[in-house]
This record gives sequence, structure tokens and C-alpha cells, in this order.
Amino acid sequence: MHMRIGFIGAGNIGGTLARRLAKLGHQVSIANSRGPESLTALAAEIGATPVSVVDAAKAGKIVIISIPTNAVADLPQDLFANVPSSVVVIDTGNYHPELRDGRIDAIDQGMLDSQWVAQQIGRPVVKAFNNIFAKSLLEKGVPKGTTGRIALSVFGDSLDAKAAALRLVDDLGFDPVDGGDLDNSWRQQPGTPAYCRDLEATALRRALAEAVRSRIAEYRADEEARIRRYIAAQAAKG
Ligand SMILES: NC(=O)c1ccc[n+]([C@@H]2O[C@H](COP(=O)([O-])OP(=O)(O)OC[C@H]3O[C@@H](n4cnc5c(N)ncnc54)[C@H](OP(=O)(O)O)[C@@H]3O)[C@@H](O)[C@H]2O)c1
Repeated sequence: MHMRIGFIGAGNIGGTLARRLAKLGHQVSIANSRGPESLTALAAEIGATPVSVVDAAKAGKIVIISIPTNAVADLPQDLFANVPSSVVVIDTGNYHPELRDGRIDAIDQGMLDSQWVAQQIGRPVVKAFNNIFAKSLLEKGVPKGTTGRIALSVFGDSLDAKAAALRLVDDLGFDPVDGGDLDNSWRQQPGTPAYCRDLEATALRRALAEAVRSRIAEYRADEEARIRRYIAAQAAKG
């Protein structure tokens, strides 16, 4: 079933998801911080409509927020005030305090990344697509039943909203895995055993179960250290 899908953020992850979903026939709108004019070329290339952030929030049955975590606090106040509660909001974000976002005290004190996003925007969110790199999202989707199909987990409190996100996962070529409620979404935050590993469903479920809640901050710091090493290695290659 084709749907209207709005994107707030059209970078690596938002842009890749928008590209793949437009190709699948969905009616996709994309927005960023610089305004629709800045997205004209990308929108034409992928078959999407460039819109403002305010219009992207009203543009679909599903709205996907794919911006740096700290930027969520800069979104217009009451962005979702008149958006029907049936609209599913998906958060792809990962909190990177040292590398990008700066410190967000509430998260440092134990709030989960997506719980903080939900609080900022005043709406429940489903956490999805934060746990796959853009390149895998672009290249590794395959039809259902294909051997070695990568699985992606989704967390959220509304069963209907989560079902919509799980359908998107499947449509994009990945095995959908219901990870549980949002309070368990730390299991796929940065650096956890399930994070961006391109695992099949059985291995993904095992990795999600293996994660240890008391290690959330440690997982995050490990992931930031890994990214730093990767950036340094890329720079050394020239
Ligand atoms: N890259 C990955 O492989 C990956 C994987 C999983 C999850 N994530 C997470 O997903 C989120 C997006 O990552 P990304 O890699 O796609 O980032 P990115 O390439 O830097 O793109 C960020 C997008 O957010 C937009 N944006 C920034 N501030 C905004 C604001 N205040 N209002 C509206 N739009 C705004 C940017 O628009 P402008 O360019 O106009 O500022 C841009 O389109 C992050 O939380 C990231 O950690 C990334």
C-alpha cells in the first residue's frame, strides 16, 4: 500500500530512506533546516517533493525525523500540535554527545535517546532505522525469504505505530523484528551488540537480548571512540 511519508531531515539516513521509499512508489516529502529551495535538486533526483519542516510534519501518514539529536530542540514549537494522533512518528536519531550533539543532561542522567526526542516534540515516537548505516540501507535490502536477509528491529509503545514501521522495514528489504516497547529501545542505541551490525533475525534477537542496561553510557562512549578511530583512519588515507 502506497503512503504519504514526510521527512524532517534529508541527509545520509533521511535522504537514503526517502530515496528508497520514493522508488517503492510512496509519496515522499523532504525537509531540512535550510528550506525547500536547498532540496530542489535532491528532490528531483529521487522523486520527492521539497517542503518546509512545518509542511513535512503534516505531509504523511508517517513522519520520519532524521536529524542530529541536538537539532530536535530547535524544531518549531508545537510542530505536531495539529497533526492527527494516528500519524506515526519515527525517530532515526542517535545521541553523539562528544562528536556532535554536546551534552544533553536528561539523556546523560538516564533518559533514552528516543524518549528524549518524544518529550521534545510532545508526541510518542517509534525508534527505527537508527541501527543501520546509510550504505547498508541503500544497498542491502533484498526480497523476503532471501537467505542472509538483514534484520532491523523497531521499538515503540503503540502496537499500530510499530506495525507501520515494521511494514516499512519489510518493504525496504529487511526482516522486521519487534524489539519491544520504547523503554527497551536502549537495546539498539549506539555501541550495543545489536547496533549497525547487519545481523540476520536470529542473531539480531540474540544481540538485543545480550545488551546490558547498566552499560548504556559505556556502549555510547565505545561507539564514539570507534567513530573517532574511523575518521582518523580515513584522514590518514588522504
Ligand atoms: N549516517 C548514518 O549511517 C546513521 C545511521 C543511523 C542513524 N543515524 C542518525 O540519524 C540522524 C540523522 O543522521 P544523518 O547521518 O542522516 O545526518 P546528516 O547527514 O548530517 O543529515 C542531517 C539532516 O538533518 C537536517 N537538519 C539539521 N538540523 C535541522 C533542523 N533544526 N531542522 C530541520 N532539519 C535539520 C539537515 O539539514 P541541513 O543540511 O539543511 O542542516 C540534514 O538534512 C542522526 O541522529 C544520526 O545519528 C545516522
